[in-house]
Amino acid sequence: MKKSLSYGFKAIRLVWEANGIYSLVMIFGKIYESTLYPFIQVFLLAQILDLIPNIKTLESSSFIWIILTYLIASFIKLALRSYLDMREAYFQTELEGFIDLRISKKLTELDPATFEDPEFQNLLSQLEGVKGTLQMHVIRSIALIDAVFKFITATIVVSTSFPLFAPIIIITTIPFYLAVDKARIVTWPYFVEKRSIVTRVTQYIKTLLSSDSTSKESIIYKTGSTLLGKIRDEQKKYYKEFNDVVNPWPFRIFLGRMVQFLAFIYTQYFNFARIMEGSLSVGQFALLFQQSQNLVFSAEEILSQYSSMSARNKYLDKFFEFLERKREILNPVSPIKLPLTTIPQVIEFKSVSFKYPRSERYILKDFNLTIKSGERIALVGENGAGKTTIIKLLLRFYDVTEGEILINGINIKELDLSEWHKYIGALFQDFIKYQFKFKDNIYLGDLSKTENEKLLRDAISKSGADKYLDTLPNGIEQIVGKMFEGGIDLSGGQWQKLALARAFFRDAPILILDEPTSAIDAKAEYEIFQNIQKLENDKTVIIISHRFSTVRHADRILVLDDGKIIEQGTHEELISQKGLYEELFEIQAKGYK
Ligand SMILES: Nc1ncnc2c1ncn2[C@@H]1O[C@H](COP(=O)(O)OP(=O)(O)O)[C@@H](O)[C@H]1O
Ligand SMILES: [Mg+2]
Repeated sequence: MKKSLSYGFKAIRLVWEANGIYSLVMIFGKIYESTLYPFIQVFLLAQILDLIPNIKTLESSSFIWIILTYLIASFIKLALRSYLDMREAYFQTELEGFIDLRISKKLTELDPATFEDPEFQNLLSQLEGVKGTLQMHVIRSIALIDAVFKFITATIVVSTSFPLFAPIIIITTIPFYLAVDKARIVTWPYFVEKRSIVTRVTQYIKTLLSSDSTSKESIIYKTGSTLLGKIRDEQKKYYKEFNDVVNPWPFRIFLGRMVQFLAFIYTQYFNFARIMEGSLSVGQFALLFQQSQNLVFSAEEILSQYSSMSARNKYLDKFFEFLERKREILNPVSPIKLPLTTIPQVIEFKSVSFKYPRSERYILKDFNLTIKSGERIALVGENGAGKTTIIKLLLRFYDVTEGEILINGINIKELDLSEWHKYIGALFQDFIKYQFKFKDNIYLGDLSKTENEKLLRDAISKSGADKYLDTLPNGIEQIVGKMFEGGIDLSGGQWQKLALARAFFRDAPILILDEPTSAIDAKAEYEIFQNIQKLENDKTVIIISHRFSTVRHADRILVLDDGKIIEQGTHEELISQKGLYEELFEIQAKGYK
C-alpha cells in the first residue's frame, strides 16, 4: 500500500521536475474538468430549480449571479480544455525526454564496476519498457488525486443530508474492488510476461521470413506455411489461456457493482422520501442525486486506480531501484590531493588480493608490484591471467579485497578519485568509437585542451592516424562512423589509431594501453611504440600486448600467470631464463618465419 502511493508521489515529482508549473496546470485542469466544473453546474442548476416556483416575482439580481458564475466557470473550462488539448501530448514527450535524460545522467554517476554486473545489464535492458509503465503510473496518480478530490467534495455535500451515506457506499464498494483487484492480478501476466513469449516467437519468425539471407532458404524449402503455423499455434495457446482466465470475471465484477448499485438506490429512496415529506427541495434533490452518483463513481475510481497502480509496482521497483542506486566506490570524506606535477607517481601494489563482487575466486592473491616513476612496464600472460584486473584496481574501478595500493606512498582510497584519474591516460581493448567528428575523438581525451590544434596534430602523428587522415574528404572535420549522416566508417586499425591519438592528446604522466592495438598491423604497432619510446620518455607506461615485438623494448616485462608474477626482467633476461616467456616468444617467432 505504502509502496504504490510512494511511487505515485515519486512519479508525480518526476512530472513536476520535467514540466514544472505546467504539471500543476495539468493536474488542476483534470480536477477542474471532471470534478469542480460539474459540481458548479449542478449546484447552479439546483439554485435555478428552487427559484422556478416563484419565477414571476423575482428581481433579476437574484439570478444574475447564477448566470455570471456559470459563464465564468465555463470560460475557465473552455480555456483549460483548449490548453490541454494542445499541451498534453507535448508534456508527454517532454516527460519522456526528461526520463531519458535522467537515465543517462544516472549512467554517468555509476561505478565502472556496475556495468560489468550482468544483473545490472539485465535491468538496463528492461528500463525502456518501464518508461511506459511510469507514464501510466503518472496518469493513474493524477486520476487518483482527482478521484480523491471528487470523493471528498461529494462526501461533504451528501453527508449534510444523510451522514451514513458515505460509509454505506464505501462498504458496498468493497466487493467490487476485491473482484477488480483479483481480476487484475490474474490477468496482468497475460499483458506482460506471457505476452512477451508470443511476441518473441512472432518476432523471430518474422525476421526469418523477411531477412534476405534466410528468406531464400524458406522459399526453396517451402517452409513459409510451417513457420506461419508456429505463430498461429503460439497465438492460439496464448489466447485460449488468456480467455479462460478472463472469462469468469465480467460476471463477478457485475455482481460487485450490483451490491453497490442497490445501496445507491436505497439511499436515493431515502432522499426521495424526504422530498415527499417536504423537507428537501427539488433543487437540493438534484444536487444530492448528482453528488451521490459522484460518490459512488469516485469510490470505485479510487479503488480501481489504486489496484492498477499496485499491479505496476513490480515494474516501477526496477526503475526507482535504478534511479536510487548509489555508488559503492566513494571518495574519502577528506581526500588527499596529489601535488600538481608532470612527474609520474610511484605505484605500489602491496600484498593485494582481489576477488570480483559475488565471486569466490581470488583473481589476485598476495600480489606485489612497484612501478617506478617513468618506468615502462609490459604485462604479458594468457587470457584471463588478470592483466586487465590489475589496471582496473589501479584506476580504482574496484577496491582491493585485501592489501593496499599506494600512489606516492598514499593509499589510493585516501585520494580524490577524479584528481587521480587526471594523471592517467588509459586505453582499453573496447575503447570508444565516437561517431562524431575525427577531431572530437581526440579532443574528448582532455576537455581542458579543446581546440588546441597544435597538440591535436602532434597526437595524430604519434598515433599513426596521420597515415590515413589525408584520405578523409573533410580531414579532421570528417564525421567518422556510419551512425550519423555524412559519416565515413573506419577500419578496426584506423579506429585504434584514432583512439591512441586521444590517449596521446591527454598527455598524462601515466599512460596505460591495455591491448588497444590488436587490429593494427605488426609494423604499424611497432612504429607507434617506437614513438612512445622516443617521445614519451618521461612518462610511466604500462603496456599490455600479445606482440613480442612491442613488449620486448619495455624496461621491465612481467609475466603473469593465474594472478601471480611468475617471471620478470628485461627481454634479454627473460629469454636467458628459458621460462614461459622464452617459450611463448619462440612460438610467436616461429609463426612469423
Ligand atoms: N567483472 C568480472 N566479474 C567476475 N570475474 C571477472 C570479471 N572480469 C574479469 N573476471 C575474471 O577475472 C579473471 C582475469 O580477467 P582479466 O583481468 O580480464 O584477464 P586478462 O586481462 O589477463 O585477460 C578472468 O578469469 C575473468 O573471467
Ligand atoms: Mg585483458
